Amino acid sequence: MRAYVVRHDDHGRSSRWEEVPDPSPSAEGVIVRVRAAALAWSDVLQMEGTYAGAVPDTPFVCGHEFAGEVVAAGSEAGYALGDRVFGFLPSPAAFAEYVAAPARCVRRTPDELADTDAAAFTTSFLTADAAMVTVGGLTPGRSLLVHAAAGGVGRSALQLARAYGTELILATAGSPSRRTAAEASGAMATADYDDFPDLVLEHTRGRGVDVVLESVGGDVFDLSARVLAPLGRLVTIGASSGTPPRRLKLPLLWQRSISVCGIHIARLLGDHPEVLQPSWKRLLSLLPAGRIRPEVGLTVSPADLAQGIEALRGRTVDGRVVIDFTGGVPV
Ligand SMILES: NC(=O)c1ccc[n+]([C@@H]2O[C@H](COP(=O)([O-])OP(=O)(O)OC[C@H]3O[C@@H](n4cnc5c(N)ncnc54)[C@H](OP(=O)(O)O)[C@@H]3O)[C@@H](O)[C@H]2O)c1
Repeated sequence: MRAYVVRHDDHGRSSRWEEVPDPSPSAEGVIVRVRAAALAWSDVLQMEGTYAGAVPDTPFVCGHEFAGEVVAAGSEAGYALGDRVFGFLPSPAAFAEYVAAPARCVRRTPDELADTDAAAFTTSFLTADAAMVTVGGLTPGRSLLVHAAAGGVGRSALQLARAYGTELILATAGSPSRRTAAEASGAMATADYDDFPDLVLEHTRGRGVDVVLESVGGDVFDLSARVLAPLGRLVTIGASSGTPPRRLKLPLLWQRSISVCGIHIARLLGDHPEVLQPSWKRLLSLLPAGRIRPEVGLTVSPADLAQGIEALRGRTVDGRVVIDFTGGVPV
């Protein structure tokens, strides 16, 4: 089969479509013919080798999220040939014609969800829900600040916050057009990464917000800790800026009665999927009613994957980048 492989040689890292062995089925897993896959910011960093989490050894097949059709099912998998499924792999392997996935990593695709939307569901919505609700303790009536809100996780977080009855939803994004996109997804007021402390203090009458979903890092992280309300929680999920937090001193936590927490969806899906069950339950109850929808900002063919990578790098995509496999992969 064909797959998008990252290699490292004397000239550095490079990625391309090439022939790799077909995946092998297991008793508790399925083989899925991929119809669509989604590209996340962490995939781009893994390709570059700059991801702050685990970077796989080269060569490796990129991508974690996919949707498609079951073409082989193990005797204990609980799926049948032809079932439409979507999934997330804890280790990358999704940008390929076929994917082998343990049954715990896939779900049946609801009839009303296209494969291109289903592929973009898990990273965005599962991360946003688990970070804001399970870890951040977001409940109806509370206030929330979502950073990088025009991106994949950000827009899903805004949709969920609306659906969960969050009283005040504030957001940041890197340009006026991206702030407009965040407002379209549910942000009640927006600011850029320098001005958000003023926005928070103005809208909370100086009290601060209850929950911050933080994925930018650097000064954004440090400033976010300073605009938390008493007992507020800052949930860190990444550092898209490439700069880790620099200034936060732990005494601030007890001085201001605030908490800093983190979550890593791939690790949890791989090692402790049970802790994500409450998130799945909430999400799958909202999905059929149409109350949440993956927001796909760009769809590319496998041959144009580089265009999708550049769009994410250039911060020009509002929502997710999806790869549509239905036209075939480059030979
Ligand atoms: N911990 C987890 O389990 C988990 C799971 C999924 C994602 N994440 C993290 O969550 C973040 C969002 O992921 P995503 O896939 O949905 O990506 P994304 O939000 O679609 O893209 C990253 C966004 O970060 C913002 N950004 C701010 N400063 C940036 C900079 N210096 N360079 C590039 N981008 C910058 C950009 O928005 P603006 O242009 O509007 O600033 C950009 O669109 C990433 O940090 C990712 O690693 C973590």
